[in-house]
Amino acid sequence: MTTPSVAVQAHVAERREVETKPIQVGLLGIGTVGSGTFKVLQRNQHEIQRRAGRGIEITMVADLDVARAKSIVGEGVEVVADARAVIANPAIDIVVELIGGYGIAKALVLEAIAAGKHVVTANKALLAVHGTEIFAAAHAKGVMVAFEAAVAGGIPIIKALREGLTANRIEWIAGIINGTTNFILSEMRDKGLDFATVLKEAQRLGYAESDPTFDIEGIDAAHKATIMSAIAFGVPVQFDKAYIEGITRLQATDIRYAEQLGYRIKLLGITKRREHGIELRVHPTLVPAKRLIANVEGAMNAVVVQGDAVGTTLYYGKGAGSEPTASAVVADLVDICRLHTADPDHRVPHLAFQPDAMADTAILPIEQVVTAFYLRLRVADEAGVLSKITTILAEHDISIDAVLQRESAEGEKSTDLIILTHDTVEGRMRDALAKMQALSSVLAPIVSIRKEELA
Ligand code: HSE
Repeated sequence: MTTPSVAVQAHVAERREVETKPIQVGLLGIGTVGSGTFKVLQRNQHEIQRRAGRGIEITMVADLDVARAKSIVGEGVEVVADARAVIANPAIDIVVELIGGYGIAKALVLEAIAAGKHVVTANKALLAVHGTEIFAAAHAKGVMVAFEAAVAGGIPIIKALREGLTANRIEWIAGIINGTTNFILSEMRDKGLDFATVLKEAQRLGYAESDPTFDIEGIDAAHKATIMSAIAFGVPVQFDKAYIEGITRLQATDIRYAEQLGYRIKLLGITKRREHGIELRVHPTLVPAKRLIANVEGAMNAVVVQGDAVGTTLYYGKGAGSEPTASAVVADLVDICRLHTADPDHRVPHLAFQPDAMADTAILPIEQVVTAFYLRLRVADEAGVLSKITTILAEHDISIDAVLQRESAEGEKSTDLIILTHDTVEGRMRDALAKMQALSSVLAPIVSIRKEELA
């Protein structure tokens, strides 16, 4: 065996020194997740170092509230108000963006990439909307953008989809990926309360924000579903093509009827491979009560992934919160530690598929989505009504799975008719709904909620 030259030995020694000195991290924003990240890194530093092969140290923090930030990190960590000072610091290897939103966060992430920093972010909104631009910039610069914390908080679903399930052709994903709405739906079902009452309670308990729009309108869940869809099918992130319906119009009555029929109502983020495109949608969904995911209660998250080889897999855990989300951020830091000296072409691609192997498969419009339906019709309790309704459904080739008619009280002239259908194309159902609504014996707006068997 020949002895390496002096120059090679010096290079190896230098490389070893780089690889063993702690990697330096700068945090942009030290709120709930940032402080959790700081705490977890400190508490578990020995274990983390044994796994990463070198220390991971937060050495700089940018936050507008400098005094509060200093009270969290103590002495020894430089705290500044200007995020750009972190990006400009040549000693910082990884920038962790925890500011959120599409505004300044986008500029800072792109500037960090341009400065050659690896980026860790929990910002689902940013990646769902601007991911294509951000990943392209990172690829060109040879840096990593890691985002495990962006989807389902502490559940390692990105890792599972991108690596653990890499042998599979993913068929579909269905997830409870917003804790706020799952908490509200669980409370509505448990206590028989209406949406507005439970929302107020959720705000009082800190489960919902004072402006809950992103959560209750399904936007947060759609951001996460968009990211999972891109990773599952190797397509660009396309938040603008997602169909989004929140839980604000959901009534306690329908939760009750669904229960009687053996279903629970959950806000699901769904993405599905179909022959001519991909479904990407978020909406309240009836799910059989016997499915594990139907029994995910409170603010918990869960994601079901159907792969052709593995079959059905389920991932469950906390989708938000300080340390659960920090768990994902720190996992990304460890990944970067392990991979940052690797050839960029041999790292795990941002969206699981090699950038030059991405597909341009279309996201299908909602009219072409295939689902089953729960319908509730307030109808006149008189002869022939049921037959008129079933005729319209039959004319639209919509097959009925079950019918439930509430027993009318003495002297009541109207009743609720509940119909469960088999799978149909949404556009066809919309036509049928318009025809049914026009019947004089249908006395109120028809309630329709999509239903998935998730079999
Ligand atoms: N607001 C989100 C939720 C947490 O309720 O799940 C972060 O996305």
